Amino acid sequence: MDKRMHPIGIFDSGVGGISVLRELVALMPEEDYIFFGDSRNAPYGTKALGEVQKLACASAEHLLAKGVKALVVACNTATSAAIQILRNRYPYMPVVGIEPALKPAVLSKEHPRILVMATPMTLREEKFHQLMMKYEEEAVIIPMPCPGLMEFVERGELCGPGIEKFLRDLFCAHLNKPVDCVVLGCTHYPFVRPVIQKMLGSGTAVFDGGKGTARETKRRLAECGLLRASGRRGSVLIENSLNTEEIRRLGRFLLEI
Ligand code: DGL
Repeated sequence: MDKRMHPIGIFDSGVGGISVLRELVALMPEEDYIFFGDSRNAPYGTKALGEVQKLACASAEHLLAKGVKALVVACNTATSAAIQILRNRYPYMPVVGIEPALKPAVLSKEHPRILVMATPMTLREEKFHQLMMKYEEEAVIIPMPCPGLMEFVERGELCGPGIEKFLRDLFCAHLNKPVDCVVLGCTHYPFVRPVIQKMLGSGTAVFDGGKGTARETKRRLAECGLLRASGRRGSVLIENSLNTEEIRRLGRFLLEI
């Protein structure tokens, strides 16, 4: 079969990567997608590096076995741990990984104060340190590890007093001075963006890397001659290592809200 007709494979440690899948579908509706969420092994962000590298490779292999033409790592944590390993393994195909959207936040204002919300692993790894160093003259960048936050999304608890209290406790150490921007450096967090925005107020701009990752995927597919011709609407298949009705329902819900 014509390689252009093959699906795009996307994976995450859980349902969070569906926030990236949504951007991909919005930008390239004619493509077919297979999304794999590894909720059984979530969270990744508090695990050891080697373990996340193994899990990321297993998810990639699972998708490769289904004949995908490109891989999108819709997980900041897995990108920071394993993107180079995956690119070395699959040099013949586009492998795109999401990263915290620091650049648009830095450019949004003169010397902004930026809070970067992400998993402990994302903020600890070399990739983020390099990104931070690149912009350290232009902004005040405050890394804010958020262990425990992705679990709210995995439970489908996107609003309510529980998550508000959790966020209030997280933010309290950082809100002594006003924050200009927040970067959502984990693909689960866009699903709780309204609560985050409500707690920080409308003066704080909130950024995430979903759209940028979708644009980069399109650019790489075009470069490799792998874009599908427009005209028909593609299909979206959501798989999850948990394989329960509950997680399937949550996946569909997050795709459609
Ligand atoms: N969704 C993942 C990310 O973008 C991480 C959540 C986790 O497994 O800890 O970083």
